[in-house]
Amino acid sequence: MNEFEGQVAFISGAGSGIGRGMAEAFVAAGMKVVLGDVDGESARQVAADLTAQGGETLPLDLDVADRTSWDAAAQQAEAAYGPIDILCNNAGVAGLSRPVEDIPIEEWKWMTDINFYGVVHGLQCFIPRLKAKGAGHIVNTSSIGGMVPLPRFSEYMAAKYAVVGLSGAVRQELKPFGIGVSVLCPGAVRTSLGETTVRQRPGRANLAAARGTVVGQQEWRYIEPIKVGRIVLRGMAEEWAFIFTHPENRAEVEAQFNAMRAAFDALPD
Ligand SMILES: NC(=O)c1ccc[n+]([C@@H]2O[C@H](COP(=O)([O-])OP(=O)(O)OC[C@H]3O[C@@H](n4cnc5c(N)ncnc54)[C@H](O)[C@@H]3O)[C@@H](O)[C@H]2O)c1
Repeated sequence: MNEFEGQVAFISGAGSGIGRGMAEAFVAAGMKVVLGDVDGESARQVAADLTAQGGETLPLDLDVADRTSWDAAAQQAEAAYGPIDILCNNAGVAGLSRPVEDIPIEEWKWMTDINFYGVVHGLQCFIPRLKAKGAGHIVNTSSIGGMVPLPRFSEYMAAKYAVVGLSGAVRQELKPFGIGVSVLCPGAVRTSLGETTVRQRPGRANLAAARGTVVGQQEWRYIEPIKVGRIVLRGMAEEWAFIFTHPENRAEVEAQFNAMRAAFDALPD
């Protein structure tokens, strides 16, 4: 028996990709998993697949950008499984490759509503419940882009940096209550992020085509979502503040901190 056996996890964006990978890893660890997704059909498909593997899951329609949707989902989750132990604020959408001045302000707001306020709503909905329980863990999905910004995706980078800052503050706030907080900063993961974003974005612009220009510039090493799920389990067990997924991202993060160190070194006496 492991420490997660019998615990209840709530994952947003669980109908695909990293959310699905976490759900698979959590079910394998003996957890009951609530699968929230704006694409409820995809959540129901994941639930059917995991049930066939002997897992206990509850698929729910959830729009993370809408607080009333969170409240309804939390009530349904608790009615089915009782109080939740683990919250994964994971749902997110991607950006088109564009210079900052070409991103319409409506698209900044659309992305911020999902990638940032989606996390805030999840925290505000579930933190009082976790405090009442006196235990638990929260994992907020940012990105390696929340540590090292990629050009031409400024609205995505800004939202992901915001999730890192938010998670750090909340980690300190919740420590006295016995609740852990980790921020997940994945590198490239083989998911449907481009496709689901195209389906949902206002105007349905061709994200995949625009992304190709950037993706072609770098060597990405894609990993499978289940691997991320297993790393997250370990990160929660060991209470990591940051959960990275790609060892090779270390050099980029160190370069960021070295640039900051140089800025301090450059200060006049
Ligand atoms: N794939 C990567 O390489 C990568 C890298 C770093 C970070 N991330 C982050 O990981 C998270 C998961 O993305 P993914 O790559 O698994 O993509 P994905 O598209 O495969 O999965 C995201 C899921 O979130 C759902 N979703 C989107 N908007 C929603 C909303 N408003 N409410 C509820 N659900 C919503 C989608 O329907 C989808 O099922 C995102 O936050 C993304 O920014 C992904």
